[in-house]
Amino acid sequence: MSSTPGFVKVVLVTGGSSGIGESICKRLAAQGHRVYGTTRKAGEQPNGYRLVSMDITDEASVLRGVDEVLREAGRIDVVVNNAGLGIQGPAEDITPEMALQLLDTNVLGAHRVCRAVLPGMRTRKAGLVINITSLAANYGLPFRSFYSASKAALERYTEALHMEVAPFGIHAVTLQPGEYNTKIATSRLRPATIGEHYRKLYDRVMEVLGGSLHYSRDPDEVAVLVAKIMATPRPKSAYYAAHGVQRLSVELKKLLPGRRFQRMMMKHYQ
Ligand SMILES: NC(=O)c1ccc[n+]([C@@H]2O[C@H](COP(=O)([O-])OP(=O)(O)OC[C@H]3O[C@@H](n4cnc5c(N)ncnc54)[C@H](OP(=O)(O)O)[C@@H]3O)[C@@H](O)[C@H]2O)c1
Repeated sequence: MSSTPGFVKVVLVTGGSSGIGESICKRLAAQGHRVYGTTRKAGEQPNGYRLVSMDITDEASVLRGVDEVLREAGRIDVVVNNAGLGIQGPAEDITPEMALQLLDTNVLGAHRVCRAVLPGMRTRKAGLVINITSLAANYGLPFRSFYSASKAALERYTEALHMEVAPFGIHAVTLQPGEYNTKIATSRLRPATIGEHYRKLYDRVMEVLGGSLHYSRDPDEVAVLVAKIMATPRPKSAYYAAHGVQRLSVELKKLLPGRRFQRMMMKHYQ
């Protein structure tokens, strides 16, 4: 991997139009890297980096977007699979169609992009794939079952991928953010109706979740960590962008008996 500090890299960041992805694009561009973000929307181009059109749920769109970058920049050194969706609702009310849409974006979307960029990385015997998962990959979150499931799936996918591509000089890592101040809550998938039997608890959990916005942090922190991973010759398998009780929760999940951890989680949300 060409990770010499100061070396200009060609970076593709999915979901470069807002939130964490936008922060990553801005920071890496400011460091002099050649950065391509992606968006599904038509609009103005940002300063310092370029947005290419890509819907990660559509294989043809992914291939077109990657091809556009390869034609323009000649190679892709680093891919940050950041584009993702949230989902909320009682598991019982989540239709398989909604679950499929979420998994199609959060898991298969990253897979489509990996399939498109890996041939070039293998040929050059260098590359870095950073998959943005979530602290939610470590445990089930109440009323966000499929979000946790999708991020846990992407964690395991990335572990397996790394073992397969490391012989070609490619590293695959995950980055798990805690709560960051972005637009993710507004675009969360939601079931059309919430069962009455869940309503009271669901409303309370969502109220606590909504209230946590006041301590959610600047997404540039995630961008700083991405830049650090890029400058590391042999990156670790997983990185955390989380602080305080959020970071602690990952360690507690490893240490506490399952039911005890779940009771602690529900206490937090009630
Ligand atoms: N914010 C947090 O607290 C937090 C915590 C943990 C993990 N994360 C993860 O961080 C990543 C970024 O989230 P965010 O908080 O920055 O959310 P955000 O502000 O809602 O941004 C989501 C980005 O994903 C893109 N996107 C969504 N669906 C897409 C699709 N089908 N094809 C291509 N792009 C798509 C959007 O681009 P367009 O709409 O322009 O196409 C947008 O740029 C997600 O994977 C999320 O799960 C976020």
